[in-house]
Amino acid sequence: MDIITVETSPIEGQKPGTSGLRKKTRTFMEPHFLENFVQSIWTGIGGVQGKTLVLGGDGRYFSDRAAQVILRMAAASGAAKVIVGRNALVSTPAASNLIRQRETDGGIILSASHNPGGPNGDFGVKFNTPNGGPAPESVTSRIFEATKAISTYQIMEAQDVDLDALGTHSLGRMAIEVVDPVEDYARLMSEIFDFDKLRALFSGGFRMRFDAMHAVTGPYAHAILEGHLGAPEGTVVNGTPSPDFGGGHPDPNPIWAKDLMDLMYGDDAPDFGAASDGDGDRNMIVGRSCYVGPSDSLAVLAANATLVPRYSGGLKGVARSMPTSQALDRVALRLDCDCYETPTGWKFFGNLLDAGRATLCGEESAGTGSDHVREKDGLWAVLFWLNILAERDIPVAELMEDHWRTYGRNYYSRHDYEAVDADKASELMAALHGRLPSLPGTAVAGQEVEWADEFAYDDPVDGSRAEAQGLRIGTKSGGRVVFRLSGTGTEGATIRVYLEKAETDPEKLAQDPQEALLEMIALAEEVSELSERTGRTKPDVFT
Ligand code: G6P
Ligand code: ZN
Repeated sequence: MDIITVETSPIEGQKPGTSGLRKKTRTFMEPHFLENFVQSIWTGIGGVQGKTLVLGGDGRYFSDRAAQVILRMAAASGAAKVIVGRNALVSTPAASNLIRQRETDGGIILSASHNPGGPNGDFGVKFNTPNGGPAPESVTSRIFEATKAISTYQIMEAQDVDLDALGTHSLGRMAIEVVDPVEDYARLMSEIFDFDKLRALFSGGFRMRFDAMHAVTGPYAHAILEGHLGAPEGTVVNGTPSPDFGGGHPDPNPIWAKDLMDLMYGDDAPDFGAASDGDGDRNMIVGRSCYVGPSDSLAVLAANATLVPRYSGGLKGVARSMPTSQALDRVALRLDCDCYETPTGWKFFGNLLDAGRATLCGEESAGTGSDHVREKDGLWAVLFWLNILAERDIPVAELMEDHWRTYGRNYYSRHDYEAVDADKASELMAALHGRLPSLPGTAVAGQEVEWADEFAYDDPVDGSRAEAQGLRIGTKSGGRVVFRLSGTGTEGATIRVYLEKAETDPEKLAQDPQEALLEMIALAEEVSELSERTGRTKPDVFT
C-alpha cells in the first residue's frame, strides 16, 4: 500500500480549546482540515512511530469518515497498532479506561461532547495522553504550534477498514484491533460499585429512567443497568446512538433533557432519573420532583463516598473547578481532606489524580469523576448515586434536605448568554477586569464587595501556572459571582455568569435558587453592564 505525502499549508483556527479542537462539522470536512490537525497531533507528541493508540468517539456525523482517515494517517506515520471501538464508538470515559488498561501511548477521541451533531452541527478531535486524560496545555500548545508550521502530511492509500468486525485487521504494517467498547468499562464499574446491592435494589422494585439522549451511553446503559443490574427493559430510553442525536442537543441539563424533567416532576415519576451527554462524560441527576445541580451532586458524592466499595477507605482529597460551587469545600472541611480549586477543564485534575492528591473531582458543567479513569464519567456518577440510594434507602429529595441541614446550602446557578458578538464579549470582560481593583470595600447593588480578582492557578504538582481563568467578585455575606468566556463554543462568544450564595440558616434552606440568588443576579448585572453591552436581558440557558 502506498504512502502519499500531501502538500498543505497552515489553516487558521486550529488552536485546541477547553477540550480539544471543536469546530462546525463542515469546517472539519473542508479539504486538509482534519488531516492538518491529525498530522500536527503526531508532531506535537513526538511522532507515532511504533506507538499504540486508542481511537473512538461518540459516533456523531463524520466520525466514520474521520476514523478511516486517522487510521490511514497513523499507518502512514508508522504507528504499531490502533485499538478501535466497534464502529469507532467509545464513550470518553471508556476510552480513558482503555488507554490505561492497555497501557497505550494515548488515544484520539472524536466528539464535540454535548454540542449538537450532524452536517450543520459540531465535530471535535481530542488527544488524550498515556495516563488516559486530556492532553495538558504543554502538549496542546505543541500541537497548535505544529498546525502553524505544517507543510505536508502523510496518508496511506487504502480501502476502508471494516470497523464493524471485532478482531484484528491490518493496514500496511499497522495492526487494528476492533474491540467491544462496553466490556472493559462494565468490568471496571463492577469493581467499583456493589453490583449485588444494586441488583437487589432493582429487584426490590426501585424504578429509574436513564435518558441516553440518542448518544454514546445507550449501549453502556443497556448493558450495565438492564443487563448486569437487572433493571426492567425500558429503563434506558433514547438508547441507540444516532449521528445527529435524534436531531437533539445531547446536553444533560433541565433544558435539553426536558422530557426527563417532565417525567420526574409528574404524577408517575419513578424513584430516580439520570441522563448523560453526547460522549458519555457528563451526567444529570434528578429525583422525584427534585433536580440535583452538578455542584450539589459532587458534594453529595463526597459526603457519602465511603458507602461505595472502592472509596470505603475514605478520600485522599477532592477537587473542583473554580466556578463550581463551594458546597464541596464544606464537605471537605468536615472530612478533613484537602480541597483543590482548579481552572475550568478536566485536564487540570490530571496531575492531582496522578499524584494521588485527589480521589474525587467535579465541575459545575455536569462532570463528576474519580481516579478510576482520567476523564469525567457520566454513567459512573449515576451508579455512584444508585449505590448511595441503595445503602441509605431514602428518596433523593430527603437525602438533599438532610445534606443541606448537615452542611448548609450553597444556592447556585449558571446563566449563559450564547452566540454573543465576540468583540462585545471581550470588551465586557476587559471593562470588568479594569474595574476589579476598585470594587472591594464598595457597595454594588446593595451588597458589600469584600474581594475581587482574576483567577490564576499554580499547579501544586508540576508548578505550571494558568492565568486569566475567570473574573470573580465575593461579597461580605458569602456570595460570589464569576464571569468567564466559554472555551467550547463554536459560534461567537458565550458569556457564563456563575452565581452563588451560601446559606446556613435552617429556615432558609428550601428556596428556589433563582429567587435566593436575586441579589447576586443584580450585582452581576451592575458590575458588568451586561444587558446594555450585549442587548440581552435574560440568559439563553440557565442551570
Ligand atoms: C468541557 C470540559 C469540561 C469543562 C466544560 C466547560 O466539557 O471537558 O471540563 O468544564 O467543557 O467548558 P466551557 O469553557 O464551555 O465553560
Ligand atoms: Zn462530554
